[in-house]
Amino acid sequence: MISRRTILTTGAASVVVLGASYLSVNLSDKEEIFLAPWGSALKGFGDIRLNALAYAILAPSPHNRQPWQVHLHDDGVSYDLYCDLGRLLPETDPQNRQITIGLGAFLELYKYAAAVQGYRADIVPFPKGEPYPILDSRPIATVTLKEDASAVQNPLFKYTLARRTVRQNFKKDKHVSQHDLDELFRTAKLSNQTSFATTIELAKMERLKDMCRRGWGIETSTLATHHESTALTRIGAKEVRQNPDGISLLGPMMEMYKALGIMNRDKMNMSGSAAFDGTVSFYNKLIDSAAAFGWLSTPSNTRIDQLQAGADWVRLNLAATKLGIAMHPLSHILQEFTEMDDLYTEFHQEIGIGAPARVQGLFRFGYADTPKASPRWPLETRLLKFEL
Ligand SMILES: Cc1cc2nc3c(=O)[nH]c(=O)nc-3n(C[C@H](O)[C@H](O)[C@H](O)COP(=O)(O)O)c2cc1C
Repeated sequence: MISRRTILTTGAASVVVLGASYLSVNLSDKEEIFLAPWGSALKGFGDIRLNALAYAILAPSPHNRQPWQVHLHDDGVSYDLYCDLGRLLPETDPQNRQITIGLGAFLELYKYAAAVQGYRADIVPFPKGEPYPILDSRPIATVTLKEDASAVQNPLFKYTLARRTVRQNFKKDKHVSQHDLDELFRTAKLSNQTSFATTIELAKMERLKDMCRRGWGIETSTLATHHESTALTRIGAKEVRQNPDGISLLGPMMEMYKALGIMNRDKMNMSGSAAFDGTVSFYNKLIDSAAAFGWLSTPSNTRIDQLQAGADWVRLNLAATKLGIAMHPLSHILQEFTEMDDLYTEFHQEIGIGAPARVQGLFRFGYADTPKASPRWPLETRLLKFEL
């Protein structure tokens, strides 16, 4: 019987095996340890799979959960990708749909990073079957590198380190035109397994903003979903260093609010507190500043559809990065918990998409200054060791 265990962050084994420990990366005083993986990707790890995985771990994932776990095979060219079942979001993502999208984005970036090294990544999704209704311990994919000088290079790969989820107010005076959106679509070159639609039509935008605000209101007023998010909120640099994932609240103001006891998880859970009200209004302002909306949908909702949605999600995000367009997902109204059911239906009716098709990603677009990268666990902490 084979059992799995994660190599610990500071485990001596990982340092010896991979030669790069979380705590030994050279950083300038100003750089934070939790951003180191964005620099490590450029350095290389002396193994073609690790070199590509160093980019894959920079993929977007819901609540920055980074649900990927990798078991490298002894053949030097392949690995199995697993979902870390301890990183699911059972309340806001009860079907693990969003988590699977994140894993799809991871595989897509892996493919690009392999191609620049002259390798084609052959990906066999769900080699032991597609897990429903939730993910289980079976692999998400088996991935094998084959030397192939003609492996298709995606020109968007060079934007991987600059890609961001832009959780900021968008500029009021800079509109997104239909031409900008058409250019985004052309640049992203999405697969033909997903569809992407957009709107800048004012009345429709207002209806969508209203739905997004109501969806956000439902998520924050439903205890289980709100508490899931606050439990995963890292307040201040110290907490982010300890857990470079989840929702990171960083910056001098946040450190001050924390020190004064204004911002903590208990207060965030307390309706009427400054922390709770501030969080709600922060997000409502984000929604209000949307200059355009876009949505990525699939004709059905299989696990394969979800992986493909993740691949196209990151393509869109890279294309937006190239064009200087800020992209921010607003996922609340797509979530499958009971309290959201009516709004989920209302939204899908508004945009004319009916089951079995569904929207996998809803985004607001606009223009904004580029934010800092988001934290990541270092690659070596995402590798699995199998014990007999
Ligand atoms: C399926 C999925 C759903 C997401 N939903 C939201 C969302 O509703 N709101 C949000 O601010 N970010 C959302 N994100 C973005 C993640 O929070 C983000 O990818 C993560 O924090 C890492 O940041 P980065 O994309 O800048 O690297 C989502 C990402 C994925 C893959």
